[in-house]
Amino acid sequence: MNVLVTGGAGYIGSHTVVELINAGHNAIIVDDLSNAKADVVDRIQTITGTRPVFYELDCKNIDGLRSVFSAHKIDAIIHFAAFKAVGESVKKPLQYYRNNLDSTFALLEVMEEFGCKKFIFSSSATVYGPNNPHPYKEEMPAIQSSSPYGWTKVMIERILTDYVTAHPDFCAVLLRYFNPIGAHESGLLGDDPNGIPNNLMPYIGRVAAGQLEKLTIFGGDYPTPDGTCQRDYLHVVDLAVGHLKALEFAKDREGAEAINLGTGNGISVLELVNAFNKANDMDLPYVIGPRRDGDLPAFWADAEKAKNLLGWEATHTVEDMCRSAWQFAKNAGK
Ligand code: UD1
Repeated sequence: MNVLVTGGAGYIGSHTVVELINAGHNAIIVDDLSNAKADVVDRIQTITGTRPVFYELDCKNIDGLRSVFSAHKIDAIIHFAAFKAVGESVKKPLQYYRNNLDSTFALLEVMEEFGCKKFIFSSSATVYGPNNPHPYKEEMPAIQSSSPYGWTKVMIERILTDYVTAHPDFCAVLLRYFNPIGAHESGLLGDDPNGIPNNLMPYIGRVAAGQLEKLTIFGGDYPTPDGTCQRDYLHVVDLAVGHLKALEFAKDREGAEAINLGTGNGISVLELVNAFNKANDMDLPYVIGPRRDGDLPAFWADAEKAKNLLGWEATHTVEDMCRSAWQFAKNAGK
């Protein structure tokens, strides 16, 4: 298939492009490089031996998208491109709603003009909001979030679902990610955010590389076994493979389907730090600090639906995640 990957130079997007190419698909990347680096395309070529087509383009640019669809017969799109910093979204709600929603509208409009009917969407476990019990199941009401970033995911899920109601021959797969971490085994691709990382594993990587002094664990008094928050961390390569499976699933199907991509296991921040130390023979400096606003004590996925519908299951261990994350952070720090 010819697959348009928006945000294909980003963390999850680049790993997905590698898996697409390895499976024999043609990947066409659209990325405005607002939070990614152009040399990712070279790195994908080094890993796969194939250079994906790359357009430096903002997804809100509808005429630019038309040119891409005119140049390639696009069979499906995987839409990663979005602003994703939770805290920043609270300070800049307008930018987040404008960017994340407009890019989706532009894509849907151009897809309609060109008769493309397969849409894989990069959603998030954040759509389950603060009130659902874990493990999160897809049939739970997923209409809440705690930040404008999260609300854009809720809204785009709604928009795609309504679009499918109006166009029953369209297929939208809403992939609800839990916490992707880790990096490609080559050490060439990984999570390398601009500035000081907000997310846990890239922060740990910078501390391990000596670029940041110590990790602050946000809260040690949660109602969890060791007092720190629990999350469902999954290897980014497993997540990338999940997109491939979703694409195969969407090929002969119609309708909208929300599917969790997680391991089904929760581990705590402290357990992850200990696993990182063990996997990499380190002793990471950390302190327990105050809670971070908006964090939930614990959540993880019910991973059965992905298994049943997509034939997908996470296969990498926490040790794999920690080892690969460090291998990448070590190189990125040079
Ligand atoms: C957040 C978002 C999620 C988004 C994801 C990736 C919410 C509720 N969740 O997940 O929607 O998809 O980021 O962008 O908004 N931690 C520390 N110290 C740090 C950093 C993090 O202790 O320096 C802890 C956090 O308190 C949390 C865990 O590590 O318990 C994971 O945090 P993070 O990686 O930021 O992901 P989430 O907040 O779970």
